[in-house]
Amino acid sequence: MSTPDSKLTQTLAALGISSAEQVQSLFAEFRARFDSQTTRVIDENSWKTLRDAWLGRKSGVLTLVTDNWLKPATPELKRAVGASLNELRKHVDTQIAARRSAVEAGAEATASAKDRVDLSLPGVMRPIGSHHLIRTVFQEIEDIFFSIGFSVVEGPEIETPYYNFEALNIPEHHSVRDDMDTFYLELPKGAPGPLLLRTHTSPVQIHTMEKRQPPVRVIVPGKVYRRDNPDATHSFMFHQIEGLAVDSDITFCDFTGTIDYFVKQFFGEGVKTRFRPSYFPFTEPSVEFDASCVFCGGSGTAKTGGTCGKCKGSGWIELFGAGMVDPAVYGFVNYDPKKVSGFAFGIGIDRLAMLKYGIDDIQVFFQNDVRFLRQFP
Ligand code: DAH
Repeated sequence: MSTPDSKLTQTLAALGISSAEQVQSLFAEFRARFDSQTTRVIDENSWKTLRDAWLGRKSGVLTLVTDNWLKPATPELKRAVGASLNELRKHVDTQIAARRSAVEAGAEATASAKDRVDLSLPGVMRPIGSHHLIRTVFQEIEDIFFSIGFSVVEGPEIETPYYNFEALNIPEHHSVRDDMDTFYLELPKGAPGPLLLRTHTSPVQIHTMEKRQPPVRVIVPGKVYRRDNPDATHSFMFHQIEGLAVDSDITFCDFTGTIDYFVKQFFGEGVKTRFRPSYFPFTEPSVEFDASCVFCGGSGTAKTGGTCGKCKGSGWIELFGAGMVDPAVYGFVNYDPKKVSGFAFGIGIDRLAMLKYGIDDIQVFFQNDVRFLRQFP
């Protein structure tokens, strides 16, 4: 289409055209030629080629017709040429516009066909995740305490020494601080501090009592941090559930009864509990709760004969620490120790999960090995 037809570069006289009829048939020939070219328009590019070939300002067919046929035409023929040219121009204009719309509509149709969603196709199956065993155990424990009137509260993982230690009756240089080797945050110069990663969930006891008046019955699930070297029973991050119940008439019996109920719900009715004296600065008296060994049924003898390795033959397994809230703690939160009493406990979730599900290495909780995770769907 780019090399103009030789007829277009000559005058009508040179083409030997001298009558109106000849003019009309010449134009008819070109109109037919145009029509056949329009059928080749299939996309934006071929449309542009057609448009430029016919309407191009410098060398389009219509320009050449005007310059070479119309302008030099004899006065007798000028009218006929002018009329035919107008007609052709109209036809070309309309057709080119029509072709453009057709091309656009076609492009849209192809695009939307590509985007169309075929609802009859089978879907992509994405594997559904499941709760981590630690999450499941949290839930089991929360459900047990919900059933006896406790509710969940949460607290910050970044704490001040006041909440993590002082208000829990652990003054500076107290030996308990040595057991809780603590991560302190590096703070910008001049920032108020110090700040630390809480070493236990007990500071939330203080936050809760600062905000609420008795009766208080809460459990506090969460992460805690200690600078322990990782091994089968230690991790620098692990999980606890703190419990706190304070009211006007809570007795030691309420306390041990509650713990016994919890342990039986969690491990099974057949499990026995006992408590031994212990020491925590924020409870008085303090105790350590044990359960009869879930592996040997409390006999101390392994099923295969010989001493049970889990309880080392004692028949008992240490569970967690607890106690009656030390009156000194009430002093930090403006509770009147003469009017209120209560108990607290701090359960290590990872440890309980390991006991209940027979896991012997705490590290597997944090390694994200799907072969482990899939065992607890
Ligand atoms: N906070 C203690 C710890 O992490 C556990 C604990 C013991 C919590 C006795 C208590 C409690 O609330 O009464 O070692």
